[in-house]
Amino acid sequence: MKAVQPGVLAPAPPLARYLTFTLRPRGEPRRALLALSEIADGAKCVVGIGESLLRALGCRIEGMRPFPSYAGVGFEIPATPAALWCWLRGNDRGELVHCSRAIGQALGPAFTPESTIDAFRHGSGRDLTGYEDGTENPHGKKAVAAAVVDGMGDGLDGSTFVAVQQWVHDFERFESMSAKEQDNSIGRRRRDNKELDHAPPSAHVKRTAQESFTPEAFVVRRSMPWADATRAGLVFVAFGHSLDAFEAQLKRMVGAEDGIADALFKFTRPISGAYFWCPPVRKGRLDLRVVVKK
Ligand code: HEM
Repeated sequence: MKAVQPGVLAPAPPLARYLTFTLRPRGEPRRALLALSEIADGAKCVVGIGESLLRALGCRIEGMRPFPSYAGVGFEIPATPAALWCWLRGNDRGELVHCSRAIGQALGPAFTPESTIDAFRHGSGRDLTGYEDGTENPHGKKAVAAAVVDGMGDGLDGSTFVAVQQWVHDFERFESMSAKEQDNSIGRRRRDNKELDHAPPSAHVKRTAQESFTPEAFVVRRSMPWADATRAGLVFVAFGHSLDAFEAQLKRMVGAEDGIADALFKFTRPISGAYFWCPPVRKGRLDLRVVVKK
């Protein structure tokens, strides 16, 4: 297996920080990216490159495309692209702060910081609604098959595509729902994580059941709860060897096929949405050979 950034396949860390950057007008990204690759090893910091940056580098990655936006019945799925995404992973908030500073300095001449989101593990890997998240994730070889590009050549093999969305929960709305309605909206029982036998078609796990798609739509989800002073929710993160599986799931969630929207939209909304291509690693460093030509 070609080397994927190790943070992609590792379990979600206790603490994380997501940074996005845009390219400055006339910014010269090559040197900044090489400086970033001195800091970002793919384990403590997973890096993704957005389409606008790929274009600025004169590079086309097969399968990379703009994030789709949708209007559902009473909700939007926004597309908020960025040039660069860094997922800092750790267990010491101070280290994450200093790592963010180092990344900001490395990128400074060419990039402008766009957003910073602090995230954390909740309990045994639960969403802030209390539901276990990640149960049906593929593991081992199946995770590699779902998430990692293979057979495309050096510099591409080991890479992965990622879909990232920041969701904001309406806890008052969620708490006004009965326990049964809450379970039905996910399709699992919060108490013991058991999948409900008779969940409605709007239940989230009915909408997204990976085996129910043709072809099957497996992704590796590494979502984490986030919070700031006034709001909280989930940073949804899904890695795939292509963006097709995520896109098929999202399409069903919004009801584009059958008019049935995912019951999640009763209490949560995405406020961002972007795709990134995450280069492979070589000798513990980001392998940028296809994007930064020597
Ligand atoms: C706030 C947003 C979301 C929350 C709170 C959430 C929560 C959950 C929970 C609790 C489960 C059940 C346990 C598990 O298998 O992980 C689940 C399953 C799943 N979710 Fe989400 N999710 C969210 C957004 C999304 C989005 C945007 C997608 C993809 C477009 C997605 C794709 C999936 C998939 C593929 C499964 C597993 C389905 C299966 O094969 O059984 N989720 N999610």
